[in-house]
Amino acid sequence: MDTMTASADALRAAMAEAAIEIDQALDMLIPRAEGLEAPLFDAMRYAAMGGGKRLRGFLVLEGARQFGVSRDAALRTAAAIEMLHAYSLVHDDLPCMDDDDLRRGKPTVHKAFDEATAVLAGDALQANAFYALAEPEAHSDSFVRAELCRGLARAAGPRGMCGGQMMDMMAERVGEPLEEAEIGRLQMLKTGKLIEFSAEAGAILGKAPLQMRHAFAAYGRDLGAAFQIADDLLDATVSAEQAGKRTGKDAAAGKATLVGLLGLDRARAQAERLAAQAAAHLDALGDRADLLRALAGYAIARRN
Ligand code: IPE
Ligand code: IPE
Ligand code: MG
Ligand code: MG
Ligand code: MG
Repeated sequence: MDTMTASADALRAAMAEAAIEIDQALDMLIPRAEGLEAPLFDAMRYAAMGGGKRLRGFLVLEGARQFGVSRDAALRTAAAIEMLHAYSLVHDDLPCMDDDDLRRGKPTVHKAFDEATAVLAGDALQANAFYALAEPEAHSDSFVRAELCRGLARAAGPRGMCGGQMMDMMAERVGEPLEEAEIGRLQMLKTGKLIEFSAEAGAILGKAPLQMRHAFAAYGRDLGAAFQIADDLLDATVSAEQAGKRTGKDAAAGKATLVGLLGLDRARAQAERLAAQAAAHLDALGDRADLLRALAGYAIARRN
């Protein structure tokens, strides 16, 4: 077996194990409830658990492993970021946004429940993510807990995911193609910032030297950029069954994507260049970062 195949197999196994552990952490952080508020908890669990590639959570766990962070603390942070991400998907799928009816191979939250419940479930997942990071179990040092909350708030807010989503919506409305640099900025905000923070979070938990923290952030930045181009490539090239969500919609909706601007081949080449660049940021770590380097390859080779 060549090393590429070996590391791809090891990555698959590690991601599968992480997905199970992250689901267990989510099960603990999103309790079941009874009474009139029960549908909110059901919708939160429906959105956050039992699906997704867990790329962001895996990044936290792999980063944390490099710095000797306890698995429980890493899992809590991984689950918090996955809750934030799940919220962004629930709202992204709403009729007022991308208007999608399929997510992770099942009906979107507003289809399985209703729109008001989907809005609330997204809101509550976001609040719960910060609650999980602010609790003492997240880290014994309150400064580290504050750093985690600050980082996640930045990645999710107006200079992060929400800002990027606004640009995405505006690009659709304006109807004129964006320039390449603007698309890059849109993607950095809507997807890149949260992936960057996920890559950096392990180093924050482990109180790693600033230089290390920056290397992980740089890795996450390039990985996130490659990941969103791959998402746009999948929209243009694979079936809904394969992706677990509706595809072939971006061009019709007038979304600003590099695939739309540059075509499939040039967009793919750019994603490959970014993935290689991401992996190179971790060169100083040697073999310890093999899985993270393999993850950069996976981000663009994935089929869903
Ligand atoms: C989908 O994210 C939305 C994007 C930012 C591209 P993922 O492709 O990570 O979705 P899941 O979590 O695996 O479902
Ligand atoms: C969404 O990007 C990114 C988010 C912040 C949720 P997309 O709209 O392309 O994600 P998909 O294709 O619906 O998963
Ligand atoms: Mg969208
Ligand atoms: Mg969408
Ligand atoms: Mg997409």
